[in-house]
Amino acid sequence: MINIKNQKVAVIGSGLIGRAWAIVFARAGLQVNIYDQSNEALKNCLQLIRNLLDDADKAGLIAESVSDIISRIHPVATLEEACAGVILVQENIRETVEAKLAVFAELDLHAPDNAILASSTSWLPTSLFTENLRGRARCLVAHPTNPPYLIPLVEVSPAPWTSDQVVAGAMAFYAAVDQEPVLVKKEIHGFLLNRVQGAVLNEMLNLYEEGYASSADLDKVMKYGLGLRWSFMGPFETIDLNAPDGVVDYAARYGQTYADVAKTQKDNTWNPQVIACVERERREILKKDELDDRSRWRDNRLMNLRKHQLNQPK
Ligand SMILES: NC(=O)c1ccc[n+]([C@@H]2O[C@H](COP(=O)([O-])OP(=O)(O)OC[C@H]3O[C@@H](n4cnc5c(N)ncnc54)[C@H](O)[C@@H]3O)[C@@H](O)[C@H]2O)c1
Repeated sequence: MINIKNQKVAVIGSGLIGRAWAIVFARAGLQVNIYDQSNEALKNCLQLIRNLLDDADKAGLIAESVSDIISRIHPVATLEEACAGVILVQENIRETVEAKLAVFAELDLHAPDNAILASSTSWLPTSLFTENLRGRARCLVAHPTNPPYLIPLVEVSPAPWTSDQVVAGAMAFYAAVDQEPVLVKKEIHGFLLNRVQGAVLNEMLNLYEEGYASSADLDKVMKYGLGLRWSFMGPFETIDLNAPDGVVDYAARYGQTYADVAKTQKDNTWNPQVIACVERERREILKKDELDDRSRWRDNRLMNLRKHQLNQPK
């Protein structure tokens, strides 16, 4: 385990994800420099972080006072200042290759040579925006799940030129700040989580489009069925336990059926007319002006679920 106590990190971009990362790092005892090119965003970020921490505190999810955590988060006026003396930079700016190329060139210039440069990008492989950098061996993607202070998964996805030492360092770092890093061994568009989410949505949309069930009943398949188990164990562990003798036994019993069903599953094109129908069904259940309240309800459920998970053996 690496020693992170009193070390410094930089958070670049103080939007939704940058603020959430700042909480993760400060909660773990790190000093956090946070920078945004928008003065307005930077000015507001501490209050927005305080609101999030107040809710987490009410849910019993933080071990010290909100003010103590916030005292370790320092908004700074320049990217250069943010990078001074840090062991890791977490980049969270807008999702375009051009923007990532420009900001990584600056980070490579200003961050200490031994600092890891990590991007939160949701879809872009590291090699798309780091190839020509002097320090490309220290760059990788560390993709969080929103919000990372409640959902611990981090997908660490290096480029072919990222050094093994940097990959190992990043894996150790995210574990040390109480996240759950997983290694994406080869670059792939969308990493792991979004690909799995995409596969589920693909099949949900097909079943909906072809008239097998309503959107509400398809959601129930997840929330009252698969999702209950999947919230604490994965599909591989699930099949290991769903036949008396484990995975091979499960595959012998059901593998051919899954393979036959797979032949009937096809790509979904996200047809706007179908999406409009889903939207109509959703708006009958939840009016547009109720979306914010329902999002707060979701965050609260998530906090309680996370609290439960933290109290269970792994
Ligand atoms: N929103 C999500 O659910 C989610 C989840 C995982 C990863 N991500 C990724 O995280 C990154 C940030 O997403 P977000 O949702 O926080 O976006 P956001 O729009 O909320 O925040 C982006 C912030 O970056 C600032 N910014 C833009 N260019 C900058 C620059 N050159 N230097 C400094 N600051 C700059 C903006 O002013 C803004 O405050 C994206 O790459 C996104 O794909 C998002």
